[in-house]
Amino acid sequence: MNINIYGTKEEAGVAAGNMIAGAVTENANCVLGLATGSTPLPAYRHLVELYEEGTLDFADVKTFNLDEYVGLDFQNKNSYHSFMQENLFGKINILPGNINFLDGKAKDPEEECERYEEAIAECGGIDLQLLGLGSNGHIAFNEPGDAFKDRCHIVNLSENTRRDNARFFKSAGEVPHKALTMGIGTIMGAKKILIIATGKSKAEAVKKMVLGKITPALPASILRFHPNTTLLLDSDAASLLTE
Ligand code: F6R
Repeated sequence: MNINIYGTKEEAGVAAGNMIAGAVTENANCVLGLATGSTPLPAYRHLVELYEEGTLDFADVKTFNLDEYVGLDFQNKNSYHSFMQENLFGKINILPGNINFLDGKAKDPEEECERYEEAIAECGGIDLQLLGLGSNGHIAFNEPGDAFKDRCHIVNLSENTRRDNARFFKSAGEVPHKALTMGIGTIMGAKKILIIATGKSKAEAVKKMVLGKITPALPASILRFHPNTTLLLDSDAASLLTE
């Protein structure tokens, strides 16, 4: 795993944005795996700036988001679909037909998970997967547990994750209890992975991910087995790593 440490979360975000921009410039048809949450926002802002400057063209890019809450339709302002629309897709020239999401309102969640895996495979797999890191070490919504879940699946969100995400909702009680998420195998299948972690609240998870045991109790630790992963940190998130 390559580890790059930046002074601030904005600098880490700009670096991630530049790496994503590089992948799009190199291959106009590239397939991006994308994350929601606070962490990727500086990267998305930088991508929008590059697009507005005329440096980037997303017309042939395809995207697959990592996860979606169960029970929220795409129009719900708390859905991850709305989040992406507001922070990236609505500001660049990506075609709506090239945007892929797990459908949190699907009647049959298992069938929906299979459909998503097939759609990823039909596109030739994910070229570059962007990830954030949960304060409990989760990636996408693969929560700490006894075993790595391989493929897309439905998950019960931990109380820790619901608490962390409550800031996006009017009240903590509104945070859904379940989500659909890519599995660890889906993520590990990406040709290249960029994981960003910023802020003091991620420092402990970063330490365990980089220096601890590779274990489903800290799902992000599996990324050490991936042949092309880069971890982008700000100095706060890196603060518990020793030399
Ligand atoms: C979001 C996702 C989550 C977040 C993680 C960190 O699509 O998959 O794993 O990346 O919960 O969230 P933030 O960035 O809000 O701290």
